[in-house]
Amino acid sequence: MTTLPAPVARRRTFAIISHPDAGKTTLTEKLLLFGGAIQLAGAVKSRGEQRRAHSDWMKVERERGISVTASVMTFEYADKTFNLLDTPGHEDFSEDTYRVLTAVDSAVMVIDAARGIQAQTRKLFEVCRLRDMPITTFINKMDREAQDPFDLLDEIEQSLQIDVTPAAWPIGMGSQFLGCYDLLNDRLILMDKAGRGEKPHQTETCNGLDDPKLDELLPEHAVTELREQVEMVRGLCPEFDLNAYLEGNMTPVFFGSAINSFGVGELLAGLVEHAPPPRSQPSVEREITPDESKVSGFVFKIQANMDPKHRDRIAFLRLCSGHFKRGMKLRHVRTDKQLALNNAVLFLSRDRELAEEAWAGDIIGIPNHGNLHIGDALTEGEDLHFKGIPSFAPEHLQAARPTDPMRAKHLGRALQQLAEEGAASVFKPRVGADWIVGVVGVLLFEVLADRIRTEYDVPVQFEQTSLITARWVDAADDNLMKKFIRANETALADDHKGDPVFLARNAWHLDRAGEDWPDVKFLATKEQVA
Ligand code: G4P
Repeated sequence: MTTLPAPVARRRTFAIISHPDAGKTTLTEKLLLFGGAIQLAGAVKSRGEQRRAHSDWMKVERERGISVTASVMTFEYADKTFNLLDTPGHEDFSEDTYRVLTAVDSAVMVIDAARGIQAQTRKLFEVCRLRDMPITTFINKMDREAQDPFDLLDEIEQSLQIDVTPAAWPIGMGSQFLGCYDLLNDRLILMDKAGRGEKPHQTETCNGLDDPKLDELLPEHAVTELREQVEMVRGLCPEFDLNAYLEGNMTPVFFGSAINSFGVGELLAGLVEHAPPPRSQPSVEREITPDESKVSGFVFKIQANMDPKHRDRIAFLRLCSGHFKRGMKLRHVRTDKQLALNNAVLFLSRDRELAEEAWAGDIIGIPNHGNLHIGDALTEGEDLHFKGIPSFAPEHLQAARPTDPMRAKHLGRALQQLAEEGAASVFKPRVGADWIVGVVGVLLFEVLADRIRTEYDVPVQFEQTSLITARWVDAADDNLMKKFIRANETALADDHKGDPVFLARNAWHLDRAGEDWPDVKFLATKEQVA
């Protein structure tokens, strides 16, 4: 066991994953409220509005009422420093979300009590699973008609193949939702309905479920049901096992109503108690542990500047080790250049402020002109290439053409930059003049066209193609690869880093190529190793 420096041991870096509408924004807001980072509920959204007002390209986002950009919010609670990484909820932007998940140490999964596990929850859960990430579950909207809590637990267990253990048990639901019984601390927590969570909730410590205090505080039918159900659930579900949780094999489940601030305090207390401090990060060379004294980190997200007239971007760097101090010079491993970090920023809830210092687990924002790419490593000199930052095969491919043919070169440059930023996949076919742009969700074409127009001054059209998907191709044998490339020239393109990609016209085309070339690998994801 390594001993972490105290500031690192205090860090809890996590993300909330959920299907759109399950209540991620509401819960985020309430967590910030509990953490004292915002005063008024509603601030997350209104801050968003202000931010958006500066940014032309986010028109699409504003019109559609979806949140495209992810951000970081830092707050203190019970002696811990929480870094909450926001993830865009809309499914079209999931690639960004996946990358955010490479930068956190645990996740909170929000489930709508009426809807249960939904498509997006499952997808995001799978990514957490791949990384053995500890997951805490929050079943939200208990103040509405919900599914039976036993069915919900069963659904999580069956469909996600993870052990579940309730940390609290709900008392009633919908208009009859009275609160929860805290199974870990034997407490009754009653919901204060009138105040929408502005007043603290009434909590009563009980001497177990047989405590007569329960009979005084709850209506008779509710106490009877609670006792029966808790007896059943204790018989059916395993007890909370910290190691199983830390290994990603068990999820503690909280029930609540984010909009009423109910269950949020208990969820936070659970995170304080159990969520892990910064974990080790894998690299090609070796595992980097958070107790190492030298600074290292990787870029997991790039955000274009809010000012469309400038090319500035912010690279989000997850610190994996060391104690960062302002003015430090770090080595940009991919280009082997020194980078003086005088103006890196920290994201203290509503404000950005210059990062005077930061520790493993923190996220710092580095303003730059496009020299930092997703997956890039910064170190105090060592050659490190972090692993696990994925690129996904796009599910929609369109051809990009400048409205004015004289602007083709400019379009090429814009697309290259957007690809480096991770906003889209960009492929240059070996045969033909068009660029092929690939995205995970079709809505992104609008966002891209808007950005290329406003930020690069190139009016662009996206046109349908007959292509259905792209696969990165690779083979152990160089000669075989050359032969494959020669034979498939018309179906091949290069991605923005020059790696070869097979563009499939239909499922049959892809299957056939796989059968004809059994020793060539057709990869749906590419790990970005800088
Ligand atoms: P998201 O970020 O996951 O997409 O969800 P968000 O928090 O925006 O919540 C989606 C809708 O669910 C919102 O309603 C929100 O008020 C509501 N909601 C969140 N938590 C609860 C809860 O505990 N109980 C109930 N009953 N509703 C909840 P909306 O009508 O879409 O937006 P708004 O007008 O309320 O902002």
